[in-house]
Amino acid sequence: MLHPLFTAYKGAHQAFRDRWKETDDTMCRHSMSFHLHHTLRSEFFASYLYLVEEIPLVKLFPITCEYINGEKQFYYRAQQFYEDAPASEEGMMGDFVEISTVDLEGSQQFLKKFLGPGKAGTHCALDCGSGIGRVTKGVLLPVFEKVEMADMMEHFLLHAHEEYLGDDADRIETYYCYNLQEFTPPVNKYDIIWMQWVACHLTDKDLLNFLIRCKKSLRLNGVIIMKDNMARQGCKLDPIDSSISRHLDIMRCIISKANLEILAIEKQDGFPDTIMPVWMISLHSDPMSSSKS
Ligand SMILES: C[S@@+](CC[C@H](N)C(=O)[O-])C[C@H]1O[C@@H](n2cnc3c(N)ncnc32)[C@H](O)[C@@H]1O
Repeated sequence: MLHPLFTAYKGAHQAFRDRWKETDDTMCRHSMSFHLHHTLRSEFFASYLYLVEEIPLVKLFPITCEYINGEKQFYYRAQQFYEDAPASEEGMMGDFVEISTVDLEGSQQFLKKFLGPGKAGTHCALDCGSGIGRVTKGVLLPVFEKVEMADMMEHFLLHAHEEYLGDDADRIETYYCYNLQEFTPPVNKYDIIWMQWVACHLTDKDLLNFLIRCKKSLRLNGVIIMKDNMARQGCKLDPIDSSISRHLDIMRCIISKANLEILAIEKQDGFPDTIMPVWMISLHSDPMSSSKS
C-alpha cells in the first residue's frame, strides 16, 4: 500500500507539472522572467525530491520506478546510455577525462589508510561498476594479488580483458556481467570492494540491499569504498545518464540502514569547482549491529 503522504505529494507533483507546462507554453522564451521561471522550477524540484526522499517508503518513486518496456525507466535509460558509450576512458568519464589522473591518485592515497597489519589484506578486491577497468588498472591491480570486476556492459568487460588491462588481465579472477541490483557477490571473499560512480546508478532501495550483500562478501577487516558525486542539496537526477547524486546526509542514512559504519570520509581534492563535489567513503560492518544483520 502506498504511504498516504505519497498520494499527497503525487497530487501536488501533478498539479505543479500541469501548471508549469501551461506557463512554459505561453511564456516568452527569451525574457528574463523565463530564466527566472526555470530557476524557480528546478529549485522546486530539488526540494521536492528531498522531501520525497525523507519519506522512507516511497524513495524517489515517481522518477525511478516508472516502467518502460517492462523495465524500470531509471535502469532502462542508463542501459541505453552505456550501450552507446565508447569502451574508453572518455566513455567512463564523459567530459571530465582530464581529471582521471588526479582522481586515481586521490583514490590510491585514500585506499592506503585501510591496508596493513590489523587492517584489510591485499589478496582480492572487487571493482563494482568497473567499466573498462580504469580503477582496477590504476588503483587496485598495483596493490591486490587478484581483482574481480562487475559491470552490466559486456563490451566494457571485453575491452578490459582483450586490450585495456594488457598482461595484468591474467590477474582478473572473474568478470561478472551483471546489473548490480541483481548481483550477489560471493560470500567472504574480498578485502576491498570498490564502487566508483555507480552507487548513483542505483535506486535507494537497491543501493541499500546491494550494500548489505557486499557486507557479507567481505573478508575479516574488509572495507567497502564508495566514491561518488554528492549533491550540495537534496537529490539531483541527471536524466541523460540516469544517475542520482545524493546529499551526504541521504547517503549516510542509506549506509546506516545497511548497518554499516563509516570508517573515514574525505572529499576528493583538485577537481574543478564547477563540477559536483566527489567524496570517498569507507565502510565496514558496524560491530555494534552485526548481531542484527
Ligand atoms: C561513470 S562509469 C564509471 C566506471 C568506473 N567505475 C570508473 O570510475 O572509471 C559507470 C559504470 O557503471 C556501470 N553501471 C551503471 N549502472 C549499472 C548497474 N545498474 N549495474 C552494473 N553496472 C552499472 C556502467 O556500465 C559504467 O561502466
